Amino acid sequence: MSLEISRFAQSIGGSTIVSMRRKADAIAASGIKVIDFGPGEPDFDVPAPVAQAAIRAIEAGHSRYIDPRGLPELREQVTRFEADQHNLSADPDQVVITTGTFGALSIVSRAILNPGDEVIVIEPLWDPYRNVILLTGATPVGVPMPTINGRFVIDADRLAAAVTPHTKAILVNTPWNPTGRVLTRQELIEIADVATEHDFWIIADEVYSEIVFDEAKHISVASLGPEIQRRTIVTTSLSKSFAMTGWRLGYCVAPPELSQVLGRLNHYTTRGAASMVQYAAIAALSDGMQYVERMRLEYLQRRNIIVAALNQVDGIICPIPEGGFFAFPEFPEAWGDSTRLSDLLLSDSGIVVTPGSDYGTCARHHLRISFATSQEIIREGLPRLQDALAGHPGR
Ligand SMILES: Cc1ncc(COP(=O)(O)O)c(C=O)c1O
Repeated sequence: MSLEISRFAQSIGGSTIVSMRRKADAIAASGIKVIDFGPGEPDFDVPAPVAQAAIRAIEAGHSRYIDPRGLPELREQVTRFEADQHNLSADPDQVVITTGTFGALSIVSRAILNPGDEVIVIEPLWDPYRNVILLTGATPVGVPMPTINGRFVIDADRLAAAVTPHTKAILVNTPWNPTGRVLTRQELIEIADVATEHDFWIIADEVYSEIVFDEAKHISVASLGPEIQRRTIVTTSLSKSFAMTGWRLGYCVAPPELSQVLGRLNHYTTRGAASMVQYAAIAALSDGMQYVERMRLEYLQRRNIIVAALNQVDGIICPIPEGGFFAFPEFPEAWGDSTRLSDLLLSDSGIVVTPGSDYGTCARHHLRISFATSQEIIREGLPRLQDALAGHPGR
């Protein structure tokens, strides 16, 4: 007998964002106004009709267990939404409603991974993916991507070189947090070709799918053709598109046989997302795109202000984010590592940014700057950020 904590749980690391936030709180307590360019969630209210639909569901007494795969009406609505918005055709039986993308990633990884398997993850990488994979006993294999003028691009040869007999899946995130890239059809086809040639799964996290700018177009990996769809599981949620991070409503779309397994795993992990939230999600997906569009246009304005300001600082190259709500500027190597730079920005100037190093060593000279914060705060914070970058001690 032993009171030891499981090996899986011990393999999970803490989050630098949490420690940054603690430091920021301490600085704020000392009287300095902290400007937070860290947020990874929308600063908008949930669209009113969506909130009202949840209230109506509560008042109507929708408070019992429902199908662990999700309400049939919602799964149908998801297929209509995916078909209309992303050209992805699926049957409602291929959809499982989860507690956010996290819930989807958790059941998908359990459904396809065994201890000893490897999952190729594309760096820079939203760091929680590593822990989601480690919790199954599988190993994340990070493959750093190159930059062209500070902008990360997919190099499929590097991905192919990372394939081993243990490779079971590749994880693709488009729009790509933290880089601000929306992967092109060509890039996605190249990734899918590697998976098809070596016959493994593709997990496509498309949580930022509705937040894309200019000519960029979100392409759902599973929409690329039947041979790709049969090995692809899309995971996503309403967290970012409908500003509903706290409501925990996501879903996955998977090939038919796998979706049966996902339904069972959903049953025995969380027993599904809350019923009233599922009613709200029907309202969001059927009639909420006008609210998504309003938020998108606001993000676009904020993006333009931030990118213009960053590119004025000598040495900084800030590619224009194509999607999501993060700018990901590169700074010269001579300025040192991004962890040190973001520490200095916080302690000397009261500015929170996320160091690129958190997403992989290939991003150690990048900073993630969120524009999920109001124009007022952005306009107040940018001169401070520009001054701090222009005059910081590493120059
Ligand atoms: C790339 C990516 N995937 C998934 C998530 C988690 O989203 P959810 O709230 O749907 O679990 C986030 C949240 O920051 C994210 O950035």
